[in-house]
Amino acid sequence: MTSSAPSHLVSARAPGKINLGLWVGPVRPDGYHPLLSAFQAVDLWEVVTVRHSGELQVEVTATDVSGDIPLGPTNSAWQAAVALAGDCGREPLVHISIDKSVPVAGGMAGGSADAAATLHALNALWGLGRSVDELEAIAQTIGSDVAFSVRGGAAIGRDRGQLLETVSVVGELHLVMLPAEGGLSTAEVYRHFDHMEASVDVPLAPEPEFVAAWQSAEASLLAPQLHNDLQASALELRPELESDLEMLVWAGGLGGLVSGSGPTLFTLAHSATHAKDIAQRLAQRGRRSIVTRSTSEAPGVLRP
Ligand code: C5P
Repeated sequence: MTSSAPSHLVSARAPGKINLGLWVGPVRPDGYHPLLSAFQAVDLWEVVTVRHSGELQVEVTATDVSGDIPLGPTNSAWQAAVALAGDCGREPLVHISIDKSVPVAGGMAGGSADAAATLHALNALWGLGRSVDELEAIAQTIGSDVAFSVRGGAAIGRDRGQLLETVSVVGELHLVMLPAEGGLSTAEVYRHFDHMEASVDVPLAPEPEFVAAWQSAEASLLAPQLHNDLQASALELRPELESDLEMLVWAGGLGGLVSGSGPTLFTLAHSATHAKDIAQRLAQRGRRSIVTRSTSEAPGVLRP
C-alpha cells in the first residue's frame, strides 16, 4: 500500500497481537531465545500520522491506556523512522503522532505496531514504493515482533519470531482482553524464564490439531490447546495474575492465557455476544476488559 502522490499528512495503522501458542527454547549466545509463535492479529489498531518536519519528533495523542511511553530514541516509532531513513539514505525529518488502542507494555506488541505503522506511513510520505516484504526486512532490525506487525493477519513465527509463515484463518476468534495495572518488561520476563527450570527445544511446528482449530477459528477446540511458555515466568513476577486467570474462567471464558510476555490476559469466547457477557461479568468485579476479535485485515495506509 503506497501513495502515488506525496501528501503532507499520511496515516497508517497496524494491529496489536496475541500469541495463541508461544514455545520458547533456551537462551542463545546472542541473548535472544528461539521461538515458535502462533501470532494472531487482533482488531485493536495503533494509528500513526506522519508529516514533514524540521526535526524528528514523536508524540502520543488520544490515549486511554496507561503506561509511560518514551518519546525519544527508545520509542519504536522513532527507531522505525531512523531505520527506514537510513535504508533509503535520507534524514528522518518527520513528526510522528501515535494514537494508541493497544495496552502499553502489555504483551500485545503495541510498540511493535507503532513501528510497523510508521514504516507503512513513511513509505507513502516519502514515496518509496517499498513492498511489504521489503518493509518486513527493515522491521526485523527494529524488534522481533515488528515484522509480524507489518504483515498482520495470522502467522507462525520462528527464530526470534521474525521469520514468518502466513496462516489463513477462515472466520473470526472472539476475544476478551484483561489488561493489568502497569506493564511488564519483555526482557525481564525472558530473563526470569532463564532462571526457572531448564527449557527444552522448541517444536518445529504447532501440532496439526492446533493449526486446524486455529484455521477454522473453532474457539472450543482451540481453547484447551492455548500455550505460553512465558506464562509461568510472568506469573512469578506478577502473582496476582493467577487469580485474574481464574476470574476469566469464572466469568465464562474458554480458558485464559497470558498474552506474549504479559501482563495482559485473554480468553476465547464462542461468539461476540458471549464475549460481551464475559466482559459484563468482569465489570461486576470492577474489572475493565476489552472485547475484540481476530482480524485478517492488512495493516497499511489509511485513505482519507
Ligand atoms: O526484539 P525485541 O527488542 O522486541 O525484544 C525485546 C527483548 O526481549 C530482547 O532484548 C530480549 O531480551 C527478549 N527477547 C528474547 N528472545 C526473543 C525475542 C525477545 O530473549 N526471541
